Amino acid sequence: MVKIGDISLGDFPLLLAPMEDVSDPPFRAVCKAQGADMMYTEFISSEGLIRDAIKSRQKLDIFDYERPVGIQIFGGDEEPMAMSAQIVDATRPDLLDINFGCPVKKVVCKGAGAAILKDVPKMIRLTSAVVRSTRLPVTVKTRLGWDEGSKNIEEVAERLQDAGIRALTIHGRTRTQLYKGSADWTLIGKVKNNPRIKIPIFGNGDVTTPEEALTMKNKYGVDGVMIGRAAIGYPWIFREMKHFFQTGEHLPPPDIEARVAVCREHLRRSVAWKGPVLGILEMRRHYGNYLRGLPHIKDFRTSLVMSKTLEETEEVLDKISVCYEGYEQAASGAPAVV
Ligand SMILES: Cc1cc2nc3c(=O)[nH]c(=O)nc-3n(C[C@H](O)[C@H](O)[C@H](O)COP(=O)(O)O)c2cc1C
Repeated sequence: MVKIGDISLGDFPLLLAPMEDVSDPPFRAVCKAQGADMMYTEFISSEGLIRDAIKSRQKLDIFDYERPVGIQIFGGDEEPMAMSAQIVDATRPDLLDINFGCPVKKVVCKGAGAAILKDVPKMIRLTSAVVRSTRLPVTVKTRLGWDEGSKNIEEVAERLQDAGIRALTIHGRTRTQLYKGSADWTLIGKVKNNPRIKIPIFGNGDVTTPEEALTMKNKYGVDGVMIGRAAIGYPWIFREMKHFFQTGEHLPPPDIEARVAVCREHLRRSVAWKGPVLGILEMRRHYGNYLRGLPHIKDFRTSLVMSKTLEETEEVLDKISVCYEGYEQAASGAPAVV
C-alpha cells in the first residue's frame, strides 16, 4: 500500500500529471471518473499567489470529489514560496507539490522550475521553507537533471527526502531535452532502488499504454506512475490500465457514445466553471484529442472549434454521435497532440 502521510493510494497508484491549461477542475473531474488515483492542479506561481492575481487564485479551486488532490506551486525565492505555501494550506488540498521540473524559458529565467536543479542548496532551502510553512505533506516533481552532463537526481532525491518531502515524482528527461527524445527510466529505477530512499517514488514520462505502465512497475519498481499527455482527450487510460493490471486483458476502447458523453461532460463543466466565453474557448484544444482516430472528422472538428455557445457545440456533438454510431476504434492510448 502506497501512503503519503495519511493518504492511502492503493498498491500502484496512477496519478494525473499537473499540466498547465489542461489539468483544471473540468479535466480533473473526467479523469477522476475514469479512475485517476491522485491528481494535481497545474503549477501556480508563488509570486502570483501572494500578489493575489485572479488567475493564480482561480487555479486553487479544488472540490471534495477530487480528493486526494495536490496543489502545485513554483517559484525561485524562499519568502514568496513560504507565503504561498500558507495560502495553499488554507485552501485545504490533500498535499502541496513543488515544481522543480518546468523547462519553459519564462520560468527558468526567473530561477524557478528546472533551473533549481542547477543549484541543489537553493532547492533544499526552498523546500525546507515550504515544509516549515505548511501542515500539508509536501511532495516534489522534478526531472533527471539540468542536462545530459549533470543528471543529479540521485543526490537530489536523497537531499529532498532529508528536507522533509513525503514523495517524489521524477520525469525521465533533463531540462535541456524539454519533451524531445524518449524518457529514460533507468535513473528513476536507481532512485527507487536506493536503500536510503524511503519515500514513494513515482515515475513519469511517455507512459501511454497499460503494458508500458506495467513494465515501469515491474522493471523499475516505482511506487506508481504519473500520466500526462496520454490522458488528454483520453481519460479512459486510467480505467484501462487498472483493468489490465487486474486481469491481464484489455478493455475495449470507448465507443463513440462514450467518447461524446465524456467530451460533453468536460465541456459542460468547463462552461460551468469558467463561464460561457472562456469555457467554450478553452475546450477547443481538447476536441482533436477526444476525436482522435475517427476517419474524416476534420469538418466536425472545425465546426466544434467554430461554435460559440454551449448549445451550438452540443448540437455538433449530437451529429458526431449519430454519424459515427457503431464505429469501432481499433487502438487506444496514443500520445495526445498538445
Ligand atoms: C501541456 C503541458 C503542460 C504541462 N504543465 C506542467 C505543470 O504545470 N507542472 C508540471 O510539473 N509539469 C507540467 N507538464 C509536464 C507533465 O506533468 C509531464 O511531466 C510530462 O508531460 C511528461 O509526462 P507524459 O509523457 O506522461 O506526458 C506539462 C506538460 C504538458 C504537455
